[in-house]
Amino acid sequence: MTELFGDGFLDRPPREVAPGAVHIPGWLSLSEQNWIIGQFRLWAAGPVPMHRTSVHGHEMSVATVGLGWHWQPSGYSRNATDVNGNRVLDFPDWMARLGRRAVLEATGDERAGAAYQPDTALVNFYDDTAKMGMHQDKDERSLAPVVSLSIGNRSLFRFGNTLTRNRPYDDLTLESGDLFVFGGASRRAFHGIMRVYPGTAPEGCELSRGRINITMRETGLGR
Ligand code: SIN
Ligand code: MN
Repeated sequence: MTELFGDGFLDRPPREVAPGAVHIPGWLSLSEQNWIIGQFRLWAAGPVPMHRTSVHGHEMSVATVGLGWHWQPSGYSRNATDVNGNRVLDFPDWMARLGRRAVLEATGDERAGAAYQPDTALVNFYDDTAKMGMHQDKDERSLAPVVSLSIGNRSLFRFGNTLTRNRPYDDLTLESGDLFVFGGASRRAFHGIMRVYPGTAPEGCELSRGRINITMRETGLGR
C-alpha cells in the first residue's frame, strides 16, 4: 500500500493544519516538478521579467513574476507599471486544471474543485537567504482558496491564524512537490516563510539552486 505513495509518505502524511488549510506532501511527481521548472524559466524571462517588488520602499527578498495579473502593493493590474509597463503573460489553462485538481484533492469536495477558476499566480523565487514575513493574502475579492506549490529547496512555512501575525501558528516544512491549499475559515490566515534550507532539493530536481513557490488565486476582478 505505502509503495503507492513513495518514500516518506508515512513520515509526512496529508494533514489538515487548520480548518480549510490542507498540506499534501509530495503531490507533484518529480517529472511534473521538472516540467514546471522549464515553464518557470520562460516566465522569468519576460515580457515582465522576474523582479523584486518594493513594499513601503523596501525591496522584498523574494523575486516575483505574475501570471494572468501583476501584483504590487497597490493591488492587481494587467500591466507591470512598477517594472517595465508590459502586460503579464496569460494565466495558463494547464495551471487552472492543476488548481482544480488540487482543490478537489485537498477538500474532497467535487463541487469546490470544479468551481475553482484561478486567474492569477504569483510565482516567487527564493534564493538561499530570502524569506517572506507574516502576511495575509487579502488583495483578492474572491474568497476561493489559494493553491500553493513548492519546488526546489525545502522551506520552513509558518501558518497562523486570521487575527494576528503571532501565535497560535503551526510551523511546517514544505518540500519540493508539496501542495498546500488554504481556503474557507483559513483563507485570510497570516502565513510566511521563515527560512529556506540551501542544498535540500531532491535528487533529480532540475532547479540547481533556490526555491520556487507558485500561489494560484482567484482575483474576483473579472476581465
Ligand atoms: C506566499 O505567501 O505568497 C508564499 C508562500 C510560500 O512561499 O510558500
Ligand atoms: Mn501569501
